[in-house]
Amino acid sequence: MTAVADPARVRPPGPSPWTAPVLLGRMARNRLDVMRTVAARHGDAVRLPLGPKTLWFFNHPDHAKHVLAENPGNYHKGIGLVHARRTLGDGLLTSEGELWTKQRKVIQPVFQARRIARQADAVAEESVRMAARLQRAVGAGPVDIRHEMTELTLGVLGRTLLDADLGEFGGIGAAFEAVQDQAIFEMMSLGAVPPWVPLPRQRRFRRARAELQEIVDRLVAHRRAQPGGIAGRDDVVSRLIESTSRETDPRVARQRMRDELVTLLLAGHETTASTLTWTFYLLDRHHEVWERMHAEAVEVLGDRNPTYEDLHRLRYTAMVVDEVMRLYPPVWLLPRIAQGDDVVGGWHVPAGADVVLCPYTLHRHPEFWPDPDRFDPDRFDPDRRADRPRYAYIPFGAGPRFCVGNNLGLMEAVFVLACVTRQLRLSLQPGYPVVPEPMLTLRVRGGLPMHVHEA
Ligand code: HEM
Repeated sequence: MTAVADPARVRPPGPSPWTAPVLLGRMARNRLDVMRTVAARHGDAVRLPLGPKTLWFFNHPDHAKHVLAENPGNYHKGIGLVHARRTLGDGLLTSEGELWTKQRKVIQPVFQARRIARQADAVAEESVRMAARLQRAVGAGPVDIRHEMTELTLGVLGRTLLDADLGEFGGIGAAFEAVQDQAIFEMMSLGAVPPWVPLPRQRRFRRARAELQEIVDRLVAHRRAQPGGIAGRDDVVSRLIESTSRETDPRVARQRMRDELVTLLLAGHETTASTLTWTFYLLDRHHEVWERMHAEAVEVLGDRNPTYEDLHRLRYTAMVVDEVMRLYPPVWLLPRIAQGDDVVGGWHVPAGADVVLCPYTLHRHPEFWPDPDRFDPDRFDPDRRADRPRYAYIPFGAGPRFCVGNNLGLMEAVFVLACVTRQLRLSLQPGYPVVPEPMLTLRVRGGLPMHVHEA
C-alpha cells in the first residue's frame, strides 16, 4: 500500500528561499554547523533552499529507515555521489539497477565475516607494524596521524583485497586527494561549473584519474602474471577478472574492472583512516577512556598479535570505535535522488527531489542521544543499545546499499587501536586547532600532528 501524505504536511518547513545566497556561503564554510542549526530550528524534515537546488533534509530514524531500507528502489545515489561518478564510474558505490545487483553479487561474498576472518593475520601484522613505526617516533617530533592512518589503511586493502604491496604502486594517496578535491568542488558548486572549464583543479583531476586507472591496470596485470593466474582463487581481483571476462567488448570489461577497484580502494581506505584519526584525537582528550583501552589490550593480547577471536574479547575497544563513528561518522552525508513521488514521515516528496540523510546530525539527535556531544563509549554497552531505535545509528548506511566492507573496516580499527594503545599514548601538538572537514568523508582538516609517548 502506498503511504499518503497528510495534506497539511505537503511542504516541510525551512529557511526562506531568499536566504539561499547566505546559506550557500555558510555551507561552503561550515556544512556541519548549517545542517545542525537547520535541524534544531525547523525539525526532523527541512526544505533547504541552496540556489539552484533545494535539499529535502530528513533527520529522524524512521525517515532513514524508509529511504534506505523500506523503499530503497525509489532512491538513487544523489548529489555529490553523482559527481563522484566521474571518478568512480559505475563502481559498486555509484552504480544503480541491474548493473549494481550483478556487481554486488560478485563482490559481496569476498567480504563475508567468514572470509574476513581469514584475513585477520594480515591485518594484525599491519597493525603491529604500525605500532612499531609509531614507537620509533617516541621522543621525536610530531607525527601526522591522519597521513599514517591513510597509508596504513591503503596497505591493508592492498594485502587483503589485492594481494599486492600498494607501496610499490606509488602515488595512490596523492591521486585520491586530487580526485576528492574535484568531487567536493563539484558538489559544493552544485554542478554550476561544467567539467570542460579548464581550471587547474580539473587538469589535476584528469591526471589523477588517469594515474589511478593505470595503477589498477598494473595491479590486474600483476595478478594475472602470478603463477597459476586466477585459477582456483577467490579474492576480489580474481572474481572481477572472471566476471568481466564474460563481457563481449574488452573495453567495457577493462572499464568495469577499473571502476570497481578504484571504488573499493577509495571507499575502503578513507573511511577507516578517518575513524582511526578521530579516535586518537578523542583518546588524547579523554584519558580515562585510553586507560581502559590500554588495560584491555594488555590483558587480552599481552605481547602477541591479535587474532580474529580477539575481536569478541576487545569489547571496550569496539565500543570506543562505535562511539567515535557516532560523533564523527566518516560518511557524514547520504545523498539520494527520488525517482518517483513518495511520502517520508508524512511529507510529500516529489519525483526528482534531492533527498539527504545526515548521519552526523542523526547521530547527535538529542531525542535519541542524551547529552549528544559528550564522548561516552558506554552508550554502546549491549544493555544500553536496546533503548534506541535501530536507525538512529547508521555509520555503515542501511538496507541493500549497506557497506560491504564493514567487517573489514571494524576489524582493522579494533586491531590497530589495541596494538597502539597497549604500548603507546598519543598527544596532540599543543595549540593545534582540530577542525572537522566534511569532504567525501569527514576528515580532520590539514592532518593531525601528535606526539608519541610510551604507555
Ligand atoms: C569504518 C569504515 C567504513 C565506514 C564508516 C563505511 C561507510 C559506508 C557507508 C555509510 C556506505 C553506504 C553509502 C550509501 O548508502 O550511500 C558504504 C558503502 C560502501 N562501502 Fe563502506 N565504509 C567503511 C569501510 C569500507 C571498506 C573497508 C570497504 C571496502 C574495502 C568499503 C566499501 C564500500 C562499498 C563498495 C560501498 C558501496 C556498497 C553498495 O552500494 O552496494 N567500505 N560504506
